[in-house]
Amino acid sequence: AIGYLNGKIISSSDPVLPIDERGHQFGDGVYEYIRVYNGRPFMMDEHMNRFFKSAEAIKLNLNHTPDEIKDITADLIGRSGLDDCDVYMQATRGIAPRNHLFPNVPASISMTVKPFRAMDETLRENGASVKLLPDERWQNCWIKTLNLLPNLLAKQEAFEAGAFEAVLVRDGVVTEGSSSNIFLVKEGVLITPPATKHILHGITRIAVLDIASELGISVDEREFAPEVILEADEVFLTSTGIEIVPVTSADETKIGTGKPGAVTEKIYEAFMKRV
Ligand code: PDD
Repeated sequence: AIGYLNGKIISSSDPVLPIDERGHQFGDGVYEYIRVYNGRPFMMDEHMNRFFKSAEAIKLNLNHTPDEIKDITADLIGRSGLDDCDVYMQATRGIAPRNHLFPNVPASISMTVKPFRAMDETLRENGASVKLLPDERWQNCWIKTLNLLPNLLAKQEAFEAGAFEAVLVRDGVVTEGSSSNIFLVKEGVLITPPATKHILHGITRIAVLDIASELGISVDEREFAPEVILEADEVFLTSTGIEIVPVTSADETKIGTGKPGAVTEKIYEAFMKRV
C-alpha cells in the first residue's frame, strides 16, 4: 500500500525508519485513524482538530497547518486509487540519539492509505460480547498517543476469553472500550460516559451524539458503574473502524433481549446516511 514520510511518497512496506526514531523507542508521538468512504475522508475536520490537540498536549510542533495535512491526505488518497480505504497518520518527535529529553529536530510525519478491511458483519447482526477489565492506563487518555500497551493487553485478554472488546473500568466507573467508546440505552435515554481526560473523545462518539439530537433521542453524558451495563436495554460500541456495533452480552451475561436493539439500529441507519 501507499505511504508518506516527511514529504516523500513511499510504499508502506519500505523499511524507512532508523532505530533512533522516537515513535518506536519511546512511543513519543500521536496518531489518527480516519475512514474514507467513496474517496472522501469522514469527519476530517474533527480528526484534524483532535490530531492538533493531541500534538499540542505532548508539546509537539507539527510544522504544518491542519489544511496542509488535509491536502497531503487528499493527495495520498488520490494516488492510492482507492475509494473505500483508511488513513493512518502519525507524528513523532523525530529522529535523534536516544535521550529522554526532547531533541531539537523536526517532527516526523508519516501516513498510510490502505484498502479498508471490513469487520465480520455478523457481529452487527447478532451483537458482540464484551469483557469488563480494569482500566490500567494513565490519566490522559484523551490524548491519542502511540502508547497503547494497556489497550493491547486488555484487547488480547478479552479476545482470549472469547469476547470482541474489553470494556475498561476505572475507580468503579466504566470509561470506554480498549479501542472504542461505549453507549447504553435505558428507558429510551442514550447514556455515555462524559468526555473527561479518562476517555478518548471519539469522532464516531461525536457523530452519534449529533445523530441522537437530530432524532430527538435524549442524551445523558454521565458516569455509570459496570453493573449498569448488565441492566441496560441496549449497549453499543463506536469507533472509526467498526462504526456502531451492538453489544448483546457482557461477561457472558445477556444484555436486554440478547439481540441488537431498535435504538442502536436507528442510530446506525442514520450514521450510514452521513458517510
Ligand atoms: N481507536 N477509544 C479508544 C481508546 C480508541 O482507541 C478509539 C479509536 C476510540 C474511538 O474513536 P474514534 O471514533 O475517533 O475512532 C475510543 C482507533 C480506531 C485505533 O486505535 O485504531
